[in-house]
Amino acid sequence: MSDHVTTPAPLDMDEEMSRRGFIRIATYGVSLAYLGAMGYPIYRYLNAPVETATAAAAVTNVTLDKADALAKGSALIFRFGVRPAMLIHHTDDTWSALDAVCTHMGCTVNFDTAQNKIVCGCHGGEFDPKTGENIGGPPPRPLGTFKVEVRSGSVLVSRA
Ligand code: FES
Repeated sequence: MSDHVTTPAPLDMDEEMSRRGFIRIATYGVSLAYLGAMGYPIYRYLNAPVETATAAAAVTNVTLDKADALAKGSALIFRFGVRPAMLIHHTDDTWSALDAVCTHMGCTVNFDTAQNKIVCGCHGGEFDPKTGENIGGPPPRPLGTFKVEVRSGSVLVSRA
């Protein structure tokens, strides 16, 4: 039996440098992960959906650039705060703006030019395009309406 003990060879300079490089990169990686773990909750707190929704709900008017050029008999869907809304330029040159969320189960409604109605594709709901009155199908209430002010180069839509 031999008592043969091997001693590890001394590290050369390249191995020492790569070990230091690895430790440095690992330290940066752990630091970044730590910062991300600490920073994400702060980011979420500052951009909380409730805060964003509250700010969007506080919107009282929207200016639609160049919407005054909307052709008669057509509609434009836009966002009023967090909700879709609809601006309609009627064939008699009157205008209306309505909430575009169906009062039945919340689908987004569309303007049917041929029938001159606002229709909901989900369950066949129908609304008057000038007043928002529910005129057919299951929707229990009219659509909300907005005030419309047509200006040169834009249309201002505001809460009624
Ligand atoms: S969601 Fe519009 S008719 Fe049902």
